[in-house]
Amino acid sequence: MNIRTLSTQIYQTILSGKLDSRFDTISDPQERAFAKKLIFTALRKQTFIKKVIGRYSSKQLPQKLTIEQIALILGATEILYLNTPEYAVVSTYVDIAKQLGNKYAGGFVNAVLRKICQDKDSIRQASNVPFFSKNFRRLLQNDYTTKQIAAIEKYAALEPPLDITVKSNPEQWAQTLDAKLLPNNSVRLYSAGAVYTLEGYTDGAWWVQDFASSLAVKALGNIQEKNVLDLCAAPGGKTAQLINAGAHVTAVDISENRLQKLRENLNRLNFKAENIICSDAVTYLQNSNQTFDVIMLDAPCSATGTLRRHPEIVHTKTIDDVTQSVIVQKQILDVAASHIKKGGTLLYSVCSLAKAEGEKQIADFISAHNDFKIVPITLSSLFGNYTVPEIITPEGFVRCLPSILGSEGGMDGFFIAKLQKE
Ligand SMILES: C[S@@+](CC[C@H](N)C(=O)[O-])C[C@H]1O[C@@H](n2cnc3c(N)ncnc32)[C@H](O)[C@@H]1O
Repeated sequence: MNIRTLSTQIYQTILSGKLDSRFDTISDPQERAFAKKLIFTALRKQTFIKKVIGRYSSKQLPQKLTIEQIALILGATEILYLNTPEYAVVSTYVDIAKQLGNKYAGGFVNAVLRKICQDKDSIRQASNVPFFSKNFRRLLQNDYTTKQIAAIEKYAALEPPLDITVKSNPEQWAQTLDAKLLPNNSVRLYSAGAVYTLEGYTDGAWWVQDFASSLAVKALGNIQEKNVLDLCAAPGGKTAQLINAGAHVTAVDISENRLQKLRENLNRLNFKAENIICSDAVTYLQNSNQTFDVIMLDAPCSATGTLRRHPEIVHTKTIDDVTQSVIVQKQILDVAASHIKKGGTLLYSVCSLAKAEGEKQIADFISAHNDFKIVPITLSSLFGNYTVPEIITPEGFVRCLPSILGSEGGMDGFFIAKLQKE
């Protein structure tokens, strides 16, 4: 199948909320790279392009796009941002709209793409925003000011750099990979290419992990020889950090597919977990009487903090997704509480921007479990001499936003709380 037709179909699957792994089925590396570039650029520009299309049409494009409307968005993306010759773009996407969608759609796609060709210079000069859909903006408005949302939107719309966590010698790896060393010792690559081609990947010297995500295990401090239960562990970024820090780790996740990825990652890194268990976290804990020095719960969440790498999130996630996640997180937190030794630690994290899943979830947990207290996370436990002050909240939580260190490449939205059982 033609790569643009396939890209149109993949785009529709991604917008339906299903993660699409069909990129992997595109065997030609150049075609795969093109499909990714096209789709990710279009997802970042979709809200803006819909606004542009609205100027040329009496009807606004709906929230749920038809396949021919997706063809139109991809055509506009190629004309405006990928510099494909215009004549080829217009006729290709007219054909795709006719082939995949309503046979009358070709005329509409043709008319709008021709207008975009005419006005492309002035359209390109307009700003990048809006990136967020109305629903997504509403989700953030619960928790952030207009100014904060504008900053998040500005930096989240940019293609993110690649961060890696190294087993050791971060300065040396930063040099070897021509990368920047971040305050937490993550190594940041601004133009990485395919990860598996980079030096050190096959030898298991490092693993891919966003700056923000790496802070959770750092917040634990010294965990040498501690028994750690890593709940919701796959694909294992934090499991690897825990093992690297000398802990004995039991990793639990509900998804066998994702655990397979975790096993592959640990094998490549030459790391060994004590146990790897496929189970729902609540069921696992209810059937066990074991207690741990540390439970690390990197909870399932709305994943709204990963919007830079998954720009479809701004078109697909709503407040309902946050509400659903809050229920699951609370169930796991409640049952995890009784499996922590006295004096032990519960480390809770989510890659969500929504405070209902972070700050509020933990405030509710503390009210319901008076044997737990918040241990304020300190800057010195996360960073050396260099600091990122705006990352710690007044309660002592970590709250990462894509706008923090924005001009250096930003970070995922992320929340971390450290609690101690008294
Ligand atoms: C945010 S990801 C974890 C990322 C991982 N900790 C890391 O650092 O690489 C959340 C994980 O929770 C798992 N999950 C979702 N619901 C679960 C449940 N009820 N019990 C156990 N695992 C669950 C998912 O399969 C997913 O792998």
